[in-house]
Amino acid sequence: MEIKLAENYGFCFGVKRAIEIAEESKNAYTYGPLIHNREEINRLQENFNVTTAHEIDELENTDRVIIRTHGIVKDELKKLNESGKEIINATCPFVTKPQEIVEQMSKEGYKVVIFGDEKHPEVKGVKSYAVNDPVVVMGIEDLEGHHLGVKVAVVSQTTRKVKEFMKIVNHLIENVKEVRVFNTICNATFENQEAADKLSKEADVMIVIGGKNSSNTKQLFSIVERNCKDSYHIEVPEELQPEWFEGKKLCGVTAGASTPDWIIQNVIEKIRKFSV
Ligand code: F3S
Repeated sequence: MEIKLAENYGFCFGVKRAIEIAEESKNAYTYGPLIHNREEINRLQENFNVTTAHEIDELENTDRVIIRTHGIVKDELKKLNESGKEIINATCPFVTKPQEIVEQMSKEGYKVVIFGDEKHPEVKGVKSYAVNDPVVVMGIEDLEGHHLGVKVAVVSQTTRKVKEFMKIVNHLIENVKEVRVFNTICNATFENQEAADKLSKEADVMIVIGGKNSSNTKQLFSIVERNCKDSYHIEVPEELQPEWFEGKKLCGVTAGASTPDWIIQNVIEKIRKFSV
């Protein structure tokens, strides 16, 4: 069986940057998981003593705080900045961008529409920058019942699909007088998605590697699953089952934007053992 990696996969610029920042900030705490990958977070803890705090109160005993890749809500960042601690901001610049847009547009009187998952930390952060009441939607149906007024500004969670974003944009254009559209979808996600789509059309088994709570990994999985019915989303090599590869000719491998290379290599090695 041949094993083929997608043309683009794995770590994106923002995650690489955050990890480098964490590696240079020994003994610091991150507020929330730095990235959505437990294995990498454990490695940072073991090798660099970088600890994850899940609540702001857990940061009382540290004087160095790293802000995670997906960002945090505005008031908490303000509180941390005022606390006298050293704040090391590892928020991806592509996440800072929609935060700035939302702040600016809401100040200018635009009703802000955010396309994304309300429960995701990135969206919670972006939403908190609006000075008026923003609307978070996953689809057109979520816009029902909201009074949007005549001026709307729309942004997207970085990991969303362009086609889905376009549906919301088109709907807004049909119904609102002035619509400002900011395509804040991140290219890294897009490139990984395109490559996964292409590879899964030729593969007869697809392995998608990444955190079970990683939004972009879940999206990669939903794309490949459409093209290749034998697709599996795993976090670690131990989850691989030999029967997945029986009689297969081409195994495609891709990985979410927060999956480190060493995990990908371990997975490939294990698949290789199954295929001999
Ligand atoms: Fe940033 Fe895009 Fe990665 S938003 S964290 S470069 S997926």
